[in-house]
Amino acid sequence: MKVLVIGATGGIGRQLLSRLRADGHEVRGLHRKPEQPVGIAEAGAVPVSGDIVGMTVDDFTRAAEGCEVLVFSAGAAGSGSKRTTATDGDAPAKVVAAAERLGIRRLCLVSACPEAGRQHARTPGFEHYMAEKKRADVAVAASGLDRVIPRPGTLVHEGGEGRGSPGLAVPCGWVARGTVARVLAGRVGLPGIRREILDLTHGVTPVAAALDAVARGEGRTPVAWGIHEPCSCRKQGPRAFQSYARALCHGRTVRGRAPGATNG
Ligand SMILES: NC(=O)c1ccc[n+]([C@@H]2O[C@H](COP(=O)([O-])OP(=O)(O)OC[C@H]3O[C@@H](n4cnc5c(N)ncnc54)[C@H](OP(=O)(O)O)[C@@H]3O)[C@@H](O)[C@H]2O)c1
Repeated sequence: MKVLVIGATGGIGRQLLSRLRADGHEVRGLHRKPEQPVGIAEAGAVPVSGDIVGMTVDDFTRAAEGCEVLVFSAGAAGSGSKRTTATDGDAPAKVVAAAERLGIRRLCLVSACPEAGRQHARTPGFEHYMAEKKRADVAVAASGLDRVIPRPGTLVHEGGEGRGSPGLAVPCGWVARGTVARVLAGRVGLPGIRREILDLTHGVTPVAAALDAVARGEGRTPVAWGIHEPCSCRKQGPRAFQSYARALCHGRTVRGRAPGATNG
């Protein structure tokens, strides 16, 4: 399939480009900085230039012309309230409009676990970020597009080795960016998906197998920790995350950001 990845130079996006190419898709990667096309081309994708803060629906339409699937994995990454509104809230709505104009059927949108930060003292910036992520979900859900909306927990750079707990409702935790990329890559070309919202957190099941079960409407959602196995947090996650995970497991308020978290 022909796929445009918006957020192609990010932690998820970079890994997604390679996975999509390995699966035989033709891929375009949107970037905003002059030094970025080299990395995108090295991953086997075609670089397309654009800053999504200033891009209009017309601009997104030009960037996406000829594509069959759009993936939105960009994010303002804690760069301030205005940029969060423009990047995490406005841009996905413009991408929806461009997809509808072009007759593109499928949009994959990286959202966020709605329970993220529940045990934190939440900052106004984080609240705003979560509201904008929700605004994007609503724009996509209100469209006629086939959509896949993964809602990952706190993102970390490594860990999990492709294992996770994708499901319709799972406890919020951490998840590696590479695992999110696997979920997206597995959904891009899969026929039959119309309207899917997937919570995504760490866990023990290879995500490909867990996703197959979800697509067939089968299987139990594996619960990683927090409900059935309250203390398994000790064994899970990158070292930096373990005290955070333990604190969540044991119901303590966690101050500050989770390790690896960039938003808010
Ligand atoms: N951090 C978390 O814990 C967390 C949890 C749940 C969901 N999420 C969501 O997961 C998604 C991706 O996460 P990630 O870790 O891969 O993010 P990331 O590494 O910060 O990457 C963000 C991507 O968006 C691009 N971008 C940002 N502003 C842009 C602009 N104005 N024009 C064009 N491109 C722009 C970045 O480009 P540059 O390389 O030029 O900066 C980069 O490619 C985001 O939607 C985020 O909200 C994050």
